[in-house]
Amino acid sequence: MLCISLTACSLASSGNEQESEEDVPASSQKESEQNDADKEGQSSSPEETEQTPADEEKDTASEKTEKDKVLDDGTVEVGEPESLQVVVNKRRKLPEDYTPEDLTVPNVPFYFTEDHPKKQLRKEAARALEKLFDAAEQDGIDLVAASGYRSYDRQKRIYERNVEVYGKEETDTFSAQPGTSEHQTGLAMDVTSAQVAFKLEQSFGETNEGEWLADHAHEHGFIIRYREGAKEITGYMYEPWHLRYVGKDISTDVHEQAVTLEEFFGLYPSDE
Ligand code: DAL
Ligand code: ZN
Repeated sequence: MLCISLTACSLASSGNEQESEEDVPASSQKESEQNDADKEGQSSSPEETEQTPADEEKDTASEKTEKDKVLDDGTVEVGEPESLQVVVNKRRKLPEDYTPEDLTVPNVPFYFTEDHPKKQLRKEAARALEKLFDAAEQDGIDLVAASGYRSYDRQKRIYERNVEVYGKEETDTFSAQPGTSEHQTGLAMDVTSAQVAFKLEQSFGETNEGEWLADHAHEHGFIIRYREGAKEITGYMYEPWHLRYVGKDISTDVHEQAVTLEEFFGLYPSDE
């Protein structure tokens, strides 16, 4: 079973120690390969039938915007990193200096108590996460937030540390290279629970919390970004803990269509 240990970083007080321990699989390479070989893989309120800002944005900024810049290596630097619908992946990078302007700490439980930039999300995503956690609590589900915003530099340190420990090939299945992590957008939050000892591991998807998230995250604008069996499309193994905010209209469509964000925006299969 793949497992990304948060225990060490939850207890560590040094920022660097935390960074080096984050997003680390506790599984063996063999298990990782087994998992990779196992390919696979809410509801709108009446007022949402009206044209909303999210609808308008989807119409105009639904990927491959004219502002995107093709880089020498054929990858793309996204032209609208601040879009709530931005698609960031191994081929679609954020500018190195991109920092969201409206980061804030959502009022939800975290598995650690100290202040840390990773508690932050962009404002709209933070408010939505609070509603998601409230709804979960009402259903008897105890979610705990683990890791949200990461700067380019912090992602670089995390990625490089993972490469040192696990090698590049394995690291690239679970940890994004700097500039390619959704965490830099401030729109992603990793969520866990006591049932998995606050770790980020795939068995979280089989817990009450993981199943609840898979069924209800879209009702609050989030998707499970790295679907089971979709590594060939998303570039990453299954991450039932990684929530990405896209807004309620798109999250509902993505959920109902049971697709990745790449497929939803017509980025896969790629015609490039
Ligand atoms: N674990 C995800 C892919 C990241 O590093 O952003
Ligand atoms: Zn994540």
